[in-house]
Amino acid sequence: MQTDVRPASMPRINTPALAEAFIEEQLTAIRAQVGDGKVLLALSGGVDSSVVAALLIRAIGQQLVCVHVNHGLLRKGEPEQVIRVFGEELGANLIYVDAIDRFLDKLAGVADPEEKRKIIGAEFIDVFAEEAAKLEGIRFLAQGTIYPDILESVAGIKAHHNVGGLPERLGFELVEPVKLLYKDEVRVVGKALGLPDSMVYRQPFPGPGLGVRCTGAITRDRLEALRAADAIVREEIETLPELPWQYFCVVPDFKTTGIRDGKRTFDWPCIVRAINTVDVVEVTPVHLPYDLIDRLAARIPAEVPGISRVLVDFTPKPPATVEWE
Ligand code: XMP
Repeated sequence: MQTDVRPASMPRINTPALAEAFIEEQLTAIRAQVGDGKVLLALSGGVDSSVVAALLIRAIGQQLVCVHVNHGLLRKGEPEQVIRVFGEELGANLIYVDAIDRFLDKLAGVADPEEKRKIIGAEFIDVFAEEAAKLEGIRFLAQGTIYPDILESVAGIKAHHNVGGLPERLGFELVEPVKLLYKDEVRVVGKALGLPDSMVYRQPFPGPGLGVRCTGAITRDRLEALRAADAIVREEIETLPELPWQYFCVVPDFKTTGIRDGKRTFDWPCIVRAINTVDVVEVTPVHLPYDLIDRLAARIPAEVPGISRVLVDFTPKPPATVEWE
């Protein structure tokens, strides 16, 4: 087992050569730790779990079992990308779990944000533990813990497990190959492992996913509108020469009047948020170009049923948080 303290002598991994050296070192360490044992990994498709998956596939191949849980709150194209990259291109042992109805049924009618988060977290653990119980001979649980998680855990800010409560519930030994790395280093390693840029340079996306952007009680029609609008927001903002740190939209649970095909409608608004930050403690809104805002205002109501109005959230943090819930 590695220690939880980053040695002062450890160089910052910022070149492909340093990434290759780190990968070689980890391949040996992973093989020494797990031997011929089987390892389970919750693969969300986020940067950290994707890099851990790619490392483990290289180290132990089919001894790794990846489980991708689709809770219905992922962005457009995300489950497909996980299946394509890991299942098809890297030949991983990948179990795809369609848990959409389970999550959305549990969330139906629940408007309180903290309650929504709790339901999503607890249901995730239940689904994952059920999948683990179906498998024979698993002894290890891999996690995409990174160094800031360890530091925050030591400081008492948050539990360092990405999926809180899962290791305790399953009782498996942890495999955490990137736990001494900072985020930028994880990206350099991911690039060296051959992961696509769209995964390696992915913007942060919260665990409860679109659930915290479909405010109040989630309904399937509004969630679909949000997913479609989010895809347009990402497509348009990704044409900028420099990408904001995070960019997305929110579809709140109230309606406003509009006009479609000459008739009065009563549709949702869509609120676009693009922010820059260093540490997410303080956040500044990005000055999106007006022509980009014009395109979003034209495209979203034209292409997304149920949305007739586009607004921009231009509030820094504080006083506003990044997410609306
Ligand atoms: P807030 O809204 O707290 O967000 O200003 C700060 C950053 O954290 C992300 N975020 C979350 N990430 N689970 C996560 O994994 C969560 O429940 C969660 N809530 C917020 C948010 O997207 C932003 O980058």
